[in-house]
Amino acid sequence: MNLLEVSGISKRFGGVQAVKGVSFRVRKGAVKAVIGPNGAGKTTLFDLLSGFRAPDEGTVRFQDREIQGSAPHEVAALGISRTFQNLKLFGHMTALENVMVGRHVRSRAGMLAGMFQPPSARREERAIEERARAEMRFLGVEPLAHSPAGSLAYGQQRAVELARALCAEPTLLLLDEPAAGLNMRETGELADQVLRIRERGVTVLLVEHDMSLVMRISDEVAVLCFGQKIADADPRSVQRNPEVVRVYLGED
Ligand SMILES: Nc1ncnc2c1ncn2[C@@H]1O[C@H](COP(=O)(O)OP(=O)(O)OP(=O)(O)O)[C@@H](O)[C@H]1O
Ligand SMILES: [Mg+2]
Repeated sequence: MNLLEVSGISKRFGGVQAVKGVSFRVRKGAVKAVIGPNGAGKTTLFDLLSGFRAPDEGTVRFQDREIQGSAPHEVAALGISRTFQNLKLFGHMTALENVMVGRHVRSRAGMLAGMFQPPSARREERAIEERARAEMRFLGVEPLAHSPAGSLAYGQQRAVELARALCAEPTLLLLDEPAAGLNMRETGELADQVLRIRERGVTVLLVEHDMSLVMRISDEVAVLCFGQKIADADPRSVQRNPEVVRVYLGED
């Protein structure tokens, strides 16, 4: 069963066709990677899927509902969470508070009501804190709960951002270059974490430049080049695809 079906989506910025007629599917329970050279349109594609931008044309079907053009909080409430290529943590807030922000997209009371009173809201707030701590534990960063996010090492900040995305209880998790800036040990841990996330029943779509990571954890790989999809298959086939090899190694 396909959780996500993207059909002919495009996005232009002035003279740049960042995404051009891209179609692909993500099977429920899969880990799928999107790879491609710098500027290929990978982050723009994620922006189109998560409501941060509206496509100029095309449809995004998630669980049998068309979501293109929906606002980010609407998409999040439907069950799509994401992380960002450039970390978007609130540096002055604690790691735990940052993770709790991820949950507020699904809570009834919302962020402001949670900060000011009624007992029902405070109860909900405590439940959200428990949930946030559980996700931090899952990723091994709970001991950092009360540290300001801005004071953490880069790899720890990445883990906090991942915990925040998980805290929203996504059905589909979008990870934009989760291994960027991580050392080898941290990248290995990330690979294990992604596979454990899949075991929880969460479908994962990730943009990544680290090919050994992509080959190790992905069930399928789609390749973008200048906004267009040039390959979409199992990792071995993509690795042998002559056009993909040409894009990565250059013509000569
Ligand atoms: N907000 C914007 N305004 C104008 N042009 C943009 C904008 N965002 C992206 N672009 C352009 O769209 C194209 C695709 O960019 P995008 O960031 O999606 O690529 P990417 O595949 O994520 O690259 P990278 O691997 O470097 O992260 C590039 O040519 C980029 O310069
Ligand atoms: Mg990008």
